[in-house]
Amino acid sequence: MAGKSGGGKEPALDFQILDIRHLEADQFAPLLVEESKIWRDELRWDFEPSARQISNCLQEKRLSGYALALADQIRGYCFFFNDGEKGFIGDLFVEPASAKIELARRLLDHSIEKLVGTPGLRRVEAQLPHFTYEQLESCFLARCFKAYRRCFMSVALIDRPPRRPLAGQTPPPDPTEGPAPLADFLLVPWDRKHDREAGELLCAVYHHHIDTAINDQYGSAEGTRRLIENIVHHRGCGEFLPRASLVALHRSTRSLAGVLALTSVGRQNAHIPQIAVAAQFQATGLGTAMLESSFQELTRQGYGEVSLTVTELNAGALRLYERLGFKTFRTFGAFAWEHP
Ligand SMILES: CC(C)(COP(=O)(O)OP(=O)(O)OC[C@H]1O[C@@H](n2cnc3c(N)ncnc32)[C@H](O)[C@@H]1OP(=O)(O)O)[C@@H](O)C(=O)NCCC(=O)NCCS
Repeated sequence: MAGKSGGGKEPALDFQILDIRHLEADQFAPLLVEESKIWRDELRWDFEPSARQISNCLQEKRLSGYALALADQIRGYCFFFNDGEKGFIGDLFVEPASAKIELARRLLDHSIEKLVGTPGLRRVEAQLPHFTYEQLESCFLARCFKAYRRCFMSVALIDRPPRRPLAGQTPPPDPTEGPAPLADFLLVPWDRKHDREAGELLCAVYHHHIDTAINDQYGSAEGTRRLIENIVHHRGCGEFLPRASLVALHRSTRSLAGVLALTSVGRQNAHIPQIAVAAQFQATGLGTAMLESSFQELTRQGYGEVSLTVTELNAGALRLYERLGFKTFRTFGAFAWEHP
């Protein structure tokens, strides 16, 4: 597949779109270096472990997708893979010097077309943080995907004073806030023995939640079990930080009331891949208390910044993060397609 990019006064460049399986992994090395730089500079994330994993997968021909070749060099790629009946678009990246959105859209169009035409595929999901929601929306809507805006947010921890009382401490009496509930909970570091109950908590909390439309793993006990497994044991979202990650135990019943998972995604950058509070304990300050407590531990461990992603329609969570000082630095798209 070949074509021309550019238009107007700019010189048109010859480019080719190639099947990545026809290319060697080391041809992607400069592109992966470039992509790691963008992840570090723009998304506050050390992408190098993922880049190594992608390179291994390319070598073993475990990924499908398309590469953008300009002047014999790989300037961009879009790859996808299947997990049973589900397909994932894992990444779409075009190096900045060639980052014409039109080229990225072409790579994406080829990938979407291939995926939705795959016999037996029930669902396709994608979250592509290198591009804004608006830049990619039309490609997905044209193929009947549902589209959602997600916010990439971060907050600096340095010199950040705790703003709310922590669980286990007595909050100052405030008649306007009603009864103080936090003494009912015990916050403890996340231990492996909590994994099973954490999965069950997520399954219950995310029932009918907007994020289940984006990631259908939230919709089943098996799915949430795998989700936890992926965060805690497979570095699916950075390196799990067991001491900063917390679970909240309801003191009287000893049941799990909340979970907060934290990962390391850079020398000084932590990430929150998961936070959830059981429905009956929401809006009582537990989520805030878990976040404040983990921020103190992260500061002790030398982290300077925490990031997270949140669906824009999840207004309560978004409000909570903004109240704690998080600011959105990128709005990107999450897209999901179900076989009709
Ligand atoms: C998002 C979530 C983790 C927040 O946890 P939470 O324990 O409900 O959070 P908090 O109680 O600290 O704060 C939520 C609200 O309750 C209010 N609140 C806090 N303490 C309160 C109290 N003592 N009495 C009444 N309201 C209180 C807060 O002011 C806040 O109000 P706001 O929505 O106007 O900002 C929780 O709602 C949840 O699990 N949601 C489903 C899963 C989810 O969306 N996870 C986030 C994905 S990114």
